[in-house]
Amino acid sequence: MIRKLYPYTRGYRVFILLGVLCSAAEAVFEMLLPRVMARIVDVGIPMGDTPYILKMGGVMVAMSVISMALGVGAAFLAAVAGQGFGANLRQAQYDHIQNFSFRNIEKFSTASLITRLTNDVNAMQMTMTMGMRLMVRAPVMLLSALVLAVTISIRLSRVFLVAMPLLAILAGLLIRHVGPLFRQLQERTDDLNLVVQEDLSAIRVVKSFVREDYEREKFQKRNSALRGISERAFGFVTLGMPVMMLITYGTIIAVMWYGAPMVSSSELLVGELSSLYTYITQILMSLMMLSMIMMMLSRSVACARRIAEVLEEVPDITDDGADPGAKVADGSVDFDHVSFKYSAESGEWNLFDIDLHIKSGMTVGILGATGSAKSTLVQLIPRLYEASHGTVRVGGRPVQDYTTEHLRDACAMVLQKNTLFSGTIRENLLWGNEHATEADLEAACAAACADEFIHRLPEGYDTDLGQGGVNVSGGQKQRLCIARALLKKPKVLILDDSTSAVDTATDAKIRQAFATQLPETTKLIIAQRITSIMDADLIVVMDDGRILDQGTHQELMDRSEIYRDVYQSQQEGVDLHG
Ligand SMILES: Nc1ncnc2c1ncn2[C@@H]1O[C@H](COP(=O)(O)OP(=O)(O)OP(=O)(O)O)[C@@H](O)[C@H]1O
Ligand SMILES: [Mg+2]
Repeated sequence: MIRKLYPYTRGYRVFILLGVLCSAAEAVFEMLLPRVMARIVDVGIPMGDTPYILKMGGVMVAMSVISMALGVGAAFLAAVAGQGFGANLRQAQYDHIQNFSFRNIEKFSTASLITRLTNDVNAMQMTMTMGMRLMVRAPVMLLSALVLAVTISIRLSRVFLVAMPLLAILAGLLIRHVGPLFRQLQERTDDLNLVVQEDLSAIRVVKSFVREDYEREKFQKRNSALRGISERAFGFVTLGMPVMMLITYGTIIAVMWYGAPMVSSSELLVGELSSLYTYITQILMSLMMLSMIMMMLSRSVACARRIAEVLEEVPDITDDGADPGAKVADGSVDFDHVSFKYSAESGEWNLFDIDLHIKSGMTVGILGATGSAKSTLVQLIPRLYEASHGTVRVGGRPVQDYTTEHLRDACAMVLQKNTLFSGTIRENLLWGNEHATEADLEAACAAACADEFIHRLPEGYDTDLGQGGVNVSGGQKQRLCIARALLKKPKVLILDDSTSAVDTATDAKIRQAFATQLPETTKLIIAQRITSIMDADLIVVMDDGRILDQGTHQELMDRSEIYRDVYQSQQEGVDLHG
């Protein structure tokens, strides 16, 4: 796991190295202090040698100052390295996610991706900052204290033979128990973030259905699940502390017990015994520190694994095998016996044996009940998903031949669930094509019938839309999305139910504008109303992932019973409502 994330320490390795050296040196100085102290007690005081005591005192002060400076330096370097590592990890994940296909994103869910980018990275950052100090300090302290203690008295050091295995067993038990709990902790955090993300972004829907209580309860459930698991995980950790303290003080008592007679029989000096206490405390403290580190590591391994999952996810739609020079020649679209399913494991096809040939410049209407796979069909054209069988061709070449950039610039799609971003209308439109001129903006908005309402706004194109475009009506938003797609000057324009919130008169005006202003562009229009696509060159009727029939309005009226039924029922609706 460490090897996988190591590359992301790039740019901060010098900080890590220096920090580690500082921490090690700091620990060594700290460990030597009790030795100097022992010299004062055992040599300076009995001889009444004041200059010696002062000299040694001076040495102690100097050593403390150096050790403090090293400590401050180490902490600073560790903080810089930790933050840098975190920033690298976040950037790498974010950059990689930008290459994800729809399918990759669905695999993780947006909420989990957000947790992995924020929470998990924070945990890694903290591990790095704390770990750099503790992981160096603890072993250095442990080793040097052990060596120094043994040089003072081999006999007394034997108490460690009892204390250390006891501590090791305790630490092992804790880590075995706590590791899986930390993994669950991250999963619960994902769950919670899912609710927060989903419900807060849909807070308007929640309010309009008066579902606040339901949502509150849903949140409360997951929140307390998260609390429960944290309590258990950190409970074990805190439970370990008193036991460790018990072992530490037990060891000190044992040393006193055996050490005191040795002092009276002059086998050991007073100063040596007291510095031995200090070393024992330090040895046991560093052992405790080590077990804390292990626990922290088991948590960060869980986080690191989740981050590595994102970084290692292979984008399933790439430009591999594409010809970088290939440009979409014209707006013809062909489906050669295409089948598709969203998940490879699923037994059902979402699209089955689609054979459809559209000539450049045609207007094609797509009709079908909800769930008949209309959206699925058109999403294969800009290669938002990859066909499982058969070939999808645009401009005469398989879609895989083009780089995604060239393909998607040529095939503009207004998604069924579309979003505007916070910012002005102009910013949102230019997002479709940053090089568009003012005249392009005007033309696109005119074709999408968005110009009339934009001109009525006091600030026109500079009106701020608010987050997700809350300041415009549903129909206005749809028209802005169409204008944004038109700015790409696409060869193929796909509208997935994009005028559902636009009144019929405006809908007709938009279609009229398309016919006169975009004669070259192939237009694929998914619609619920037959009137929206009646005059199309080709109408495709979908049912349950298959093409039921295709033809012009007149042909379908003549031969397709279903089409006639739908048409008549929609006409009756019109008659009824006047
Ligand atoms: N991302 C997805 N993952 C898995 N299954 C999906 C996904 N999107 C759609 N489906 C399934 O594919 C089928 C076709 O869905 P699709 O969205 O293409 O229908 P549609 O004709 O566009 O319907 P509507 O008119 O309601 O927009 C449905 O059964 C749906 O459950
Ligand atoms: Mg749809």
